[in-house]
Amino acid sequence: MALPDVSSRTDPAAPDWRDGVTYQIYPRSFADHDGDGTGDLPGIIDHLDHFGRDGLAIDAIWLSPIYPSPGRDLGYDVSDHTTVDPLLGTDDDFDRLVAECHRRGIKVILDLVMNHTSDEHPWFLASKKSREGPYADFYLWRDPSGWDADGHPRPPNNWVSFFGGPGWEWVPERGQFYYHTFLVGQPELNWRNPLLEDAQWDMVRGWLDRGVDGFRLDVFNAFLKDPELRSNPVIEGDSPWGRQEHRYDIDQPDFPELIERFRAIVDEQPGRMTIGELFSRETELAARYARDHHIVFDWSMMESPWTAEAFGASIDRRERAFGPKLWPTVALSNHDRERQATRLSASVGRDRDPDHDAIAKAAAVLILTQRGSPFLYYGEEVGMVDVDIPRDEIVDPPALRAGPDFPWYDRSRCRTPMQWGTGPGAGFTTGRPWLRLAPDAATRNVETQMRDPDSVLACYRRLLDFRRDSEPLRRGSMERLDAGVPDVLAWTRDAGGRRLLVLVSFVGEPRTVDLAAVAGDGRWTARVGSHRVPAEPDAGGRLSLRPDEAVVLEAASG
Ligand code: NOJ
Repeated sequence: MALPDVSSRTDPAAPDWRDGVTYQIYPRSFADHDGDGTGDLPGIIDHLDHFGRDGLAIDAIWLSPIYPSPGRDLGYDVSDHTTVDPLLGTDDDFDRLVAECHRRGIKVILDLVMNHTSDEHPWFLASKKSREGPYADFYLWRDPSGWDADGHPRPPNNWVSFFGGPGWEWVPERGQFYYHTFLVGQPELNWRNPLLEDAQWDMVRGWLDRGVDGFRLDVFNAFLKDPELRSNPVIEGDSPWGRQEHRYDIDQPDFPELIERFRAIVDEQPGRMTIGELFSRETELAARYARDHHIVFDWSMMESPWTAEAFGASIDRRERAFGPKLWPTVALSNHDRERQATRLSASVGRDRDPDHDAIAKAAAVLILTQRGSPFLYYGEEVGMVDVDIPRDEIVDPPALRAGPDFPWYDRSRCRTPMQWGTGPGAGFTTGRPWLRLAPDAATRNVETQMRDPDSVLACYRRLLDFRRDSEPLRRGSMERLDAGVPDVLAWTRDAGGRRLLVLVSFVGEPRTVDLAAVAGDGRWTARVGSHRVPAEPDAGGRLSLRPDEAVVLEAASG
């Protein structure tokens, strides 16, 4: 029986890159070539065989920021957008990485941080010196709204920092405040200044000319602010940021035109991909900012617990918001969020003892079989876990401010070094890792899982291989179905005359599904799934799923 309102169609004119799988690399934590304990670009080159034909069949890598940075927000505070941080390598290393990726048919996507810079960026150094000159209005400078009884300047409005504390920083040298959504060391750029916009487009063109295949845009819907910088309305919430309705500091009505201007620059070169990181929660907003050639992350699935009900609701909401024409993204984790198997296992409730690896594998099926562009975070392919980081080793600045009025997930926990092998340093480094390794690194790693056909890694490899040649999974339409039993989700993917049926169980006990009742008459064959040998329907068309099993079946043609 089909559920209403969630069906979708394939768009034949869609750009090819939307069909591909992107793998996110956090460069400091992926692989260390020079032994200084921090990952680097040559380290990535050393491990490119992890991808491609004989490895994980992904289509693109997205590199979290690689630019010079004082490192206060670990690269998201950029002091020069045009070159490579010496900590991570050289410009030649970068060009070599691009060439090596292209030789293997892999695209390279850069993380563009254009909402703010580091306070050590030459633009900011010039801007804070004087109210005159070409960079004077590159940032959000404002006069104080008044002075208190002690002669201290009062901030221009009530905006606060997402990273905790006030949003405005006083600079006596200039006699004005500047705004920062994030750290004091990340001053906000003024996108209402055409000179700033031109400077950004020059930088974008520079990377396109160097062969970069696209960009992930950091917090892109925060670029524009209210022209009058009005105070936000105050609401109920659990943190200073949460106690404001962000009416004037993000999501401005003229922002969609800025996306169009950005995409026009990128479209000067063919086939380049762009993804916006939504700095708001609503799936509907992600859909509003999505375009044929520009996709947008939405977060609902990153927050869903491991239940069919929650994931079903997220999928339906997303499909409804995006409709048949727009193409969504599918991601369950990234460098800001808990690792997926850790989060999902922790969400199952007290009445069950979760099987971490079974959930990791079923989650892989979820990501790789829904309509949308899938994004994988490094390490998920071996089921890496969140790591407890002692306070004196925390590398995430806002985590040090966390407290009852400022709840914060310590992002150091999900950024630990990639687990490549069994030796010291887990094959990540010969030195002392910049962030501690997970305690299970000696047993949970690529080397060990390569030898085990039942490993999480083996599951990802099978799924990615299957997906690479599957038109229905890459660009097919999607229709959600009623699985007819509790705790199981079902949907179909259709394209090119092929029809796949996906079933995912979210429960730690077996479930039997009647395929005819779910998808109508027809013969189904299991093609791939979370288990090495997927559950096969019996002669009566009944499919017995094992705990947390996910299966992709194909309809017999004719
Ligand atoms: C979003 C990024 O994903 C996050 O890691 C970063 O701290 C903020 N933007 C600020 O750039």
